[in-house]
Amino acid sequence: MSLIERFSFQHLVNPAGSIVVGQAGIDVPFEIKRIYFLHDVPTGQSRGAHAHKKLIQVAVCAHGSCRFRLDNGVETAEVLLSKPDEGIVIRPMIWRDMYDFSSDCILLVLASEHYDESDYIRDYKEFQNAFRPR
Ligand code: TYD
Repeated sequence: MSLIERFSFQHLVNPAGSIVVGQAGIDVPFEIKRIYFLHDVPTGQSRGAHAHKKLIQVAVCAHGSCRFRLDNGVETAEVLLSKPDEGIVIRPMIWRDMYDFSSDCILLVLASEHYDESDYIRDYKEFQNAFRPR
């Protein structure tokens, strides 16, 4: 599977105003247990710098833009999110960094689990060691 797994939301474009839709278990590939969004990220601020052990997420810039750098322990890839209907799926054990946030960016995240700090790997060496045979 490609490191950048794109996710297209259904986009109902209408002169009266457009609607972007994702449905858990139909197009979003998990039951959504949590949503959150980032906004007002200061210029030059980067975020992320972690991986998750179990969590699956879909991320999309509902407004504005930002870049993701994803790392599966073997390779890295970058992607610009700049359209409200074009997101990415982030599977478990993918290190992510987010940066180049536009000042108007609203980064929406759909998550497969409730918040659980013990699901995070925030130490890059620990992330790399997880791929080594014991
Ligand atoms: P984090 O996931 O590290 O943010 P990002 O990947 O966007 O840089 O979370 C930042 C802080 O917010 C951290 O202290 C945990 C807290 N947090 C919650 O309490 N609940 C949540 O659902 C999320 C996403 C974060």
